[in-house]
Amino acid sequence: MALDTDAAMTGCAGDLPGGRAVDDPRGPGLAPSGSFPLAAYLTRWAACTHHDLAASDAQTLPLAALLRLASPEDLQRWRTVKLGYADPRGASWMRAAVAARYAGLAQDDVLLSAGVQEAVACVLRALLAPDDHAVAVVPIYQPSEMAVTGLCAASGVPLDPDRGWSLDLDRLAAAIRPKTRLVLVNFPNSPTGATLDRASLADLIALCRRHGLWLVNDEVYRQTDVDPERAVPPVVDLYERGISINGLSKGFGLPGLRVGWVACRDRGVLDRILDVKSLLSSCLAGPSEILAHIAVRAEARLTGRARAIGRRNHGRLRSLLDRHPALFEPDEPRNLAFAFPRFRGPAGATAFARAVASDVGLLVLPSVLWRSSLAPLPEDHLRLGMGRHGCGPALAILDEYLHRLGPR
Ligand SMILES: Cc1ncc(COP(=O)(O)O)c(C=O)c1O
Repeated sequence: MALDTDAAMTGCAGDLPGGRAVDDPRGPGLAPSGSFPLAAYLTRWAACTHHDLAASDAQTLPLAALLRLASPEDLQRWRTVKLGYADPRGASWMRAAVAARYAGLAQDDVLLSAGVQEAVACVLRALLAPDDHAVAVVPIYQPSEMAVTGLCAASGVPLDPDRGWSLDLDRLAAAIRPKTRLVLVNFPNSPTGATLDRASLADLIALCRRHGLWLVNDEVYRQTDVDPERAVPPVVDLYERGISINGLSKGFGLPGLRVGWVACRDRGVLDRILDVKSLLSSCLAGPSEILAHIAVRAEARLTGRARAIGRRNHGRLRSLLDRHPALFEPDEPRNLAFAFPRFRGPAGATAFARAVASDVGLLVLPSVLWRSSLAPLPEDHLRLGMGRHGCGPALAILDEYLHRLGPR
């Protein structure tokens, strides 16, 4: 059964002739501080770039292809779906399917949300009060950082670029204050692809337990970790105050369904998260819940396909980087959804990203877009999406562009 009926899709619909952007004196689509620079950059460039190496969501699939994976029961649900309000926590059968992905969880330990980011924002709001302090490991998806800093005092602990983007637990321990209530992490991490080995995760949990801290992990890139054996277990499986957040937006290739979830062993906390979520929306879209259930039941098939595409694209990227050693440092694939090579060119990664968008209509993301208000981070990397069929042609364009630049 073919899933890839939309193989020609590149994911970036440009419409300006020649892919040339109008110059912006503020810089490459960088928005004023306090806003969400990544979204501003995408808005700024998406309309005039025709080739996408920015997206971190896996190649999506058409509705018809997803429905072909449905069980008879889900097909019946789909045919008879009613469009009224649904259960605010999410449909019981979908919560049960999500709970089954974790060790010893039941459906009432899971709350569904409209995408991953809604889950992160609701968890933080439910757990943090203005007097509290939180620690965030950075870089992290900026809306998550902004959610923390908008709620209480916060400290950032940067991953160490000189040690394979590893987490320095001593540094994290030093950031903990008497009022610290929560540690927010994103492992596997975007944009670096870093993850924690099991021993480091055990140490992190021991530290949180010693201080009575919640450990909230945005685990949305778990499905595309380069080595499933190496992928850290969900924090909710290992720690009574661990909260795992995940969803269908990345490795499943289904961001348009807007389905994410929170898995947490404390039902009182889940009730509080639901209270916060109720201020935003009363329930998920019923049709999305059915499609999400089909996807979760077909997880191996969907994420296997995403991983195969990502692996193929990483192979192509490796050859490209090998051909341009003066411009890029060799890069180990860490996550199959994206790569994060260091750019050595004299103009710097930010100017290079702008030039390649403007000159050949190719969208890549400079690491400055993950700039944190909590800690300094390197600005000489590019994040390159690896999950789409369109990455092959896009990498060929990048290769040709780099050849034209010549060795510098
Ligand atoms: C780490 C991380 N978390 C959350 C999100 C947002 O996910 P969703 O679209 O499901 O809200 C993204 C999107 O890029 C992300 O990279």
